[in-house]
Amino acid sequence: MRSGPKLLEATPRIELGMELLQSSALPLGYVAFGPRFYLRRGSRQTDPSLDPNQLRDVLAYVPAGVVVVSSRDERGYRGLLASSFVPVSLDPPLVLVCLDRFSATLDAVTGSGQFNVSLLGRRQEFLADRFSGRAPAVDPGWREVPHRPGANGVPIVEGCAAWFECVLQARYEAGDHEIVVGLTGAAGRGEAEPLVHWQRSFWGLA
Ligand SMILES: Cc1cc2nc3c(=O)[nH]c(=O)nc-3n(C[C@H](O)[C@H](O)[C@H](O)COP(=O)(O)O)c2cc1C
Repeated sequence: MRSGPKLLEATPRIELGMELLQSSALPLGYVAFGPRFYLRRGSRQTDPSLDPNQLRDVLAYVPAGVVVVSSRDERGYRGLLASSFVPVSLDPPLVLVCLDRFSATLDAVTGSGQFNVSLLGRRQEFLADRFSGRAPAVDPGWREVPHRPGANGVPIVEGCAAWFECVLQARYEAGDHEIVVGLTGAAGRGEAEPLVHWQRSFWGLA
């Protein structure tokens, strides 16, 4: 069972910008709640002709930096590779990452209320493999991963391109993932150039 901070909003919110729309005139699958409209839970709005494999190919064309999202639980450290990191707000300083609903790292984040983000460097592809399950998993003490503890006791990958220390601020269900929003308490840059994921491979910027 997950514990920790409250799930702030259980349903992904779709703003339609139609404040005056009568609820009887709402598109199929939406429910009215106050002045806003929400996509009804479990409803599929996708065109059945949208081929998931084709969609995967299109999504693979979107370049992304890759980060290790780290946290801790009673077993030790937890971490996974994510390409879904997004800076959200400067004031207050917020970032987000989307975590698989069934990932052990999400459990650790929600249980501890803390997580750190390490943007991997160009020469840290081997760590990308370790933290994405493509190579032997990292042990709970991160003995084979160069790291240092952040001020919150959660590890940061040594030699990364940039890092953020976060307190869990909010969680939003989003399909098979959860959007996890963190309030950034500390951040810094390293010397490394970022590693980029594109077309199912890792690249440098040069
Ligand atoms: C390039 C790449 C990007 C990924 N991005 C994400 C992501 O944004 N969120 C996520 O939950 N998993 C992502 N994954 C998958 C996780 O890294 C993988 O499922 C991991 O083994 C989960 O570990 P855990 O269950 O121990 O937390 C990505 C994998 C790869 C190869």
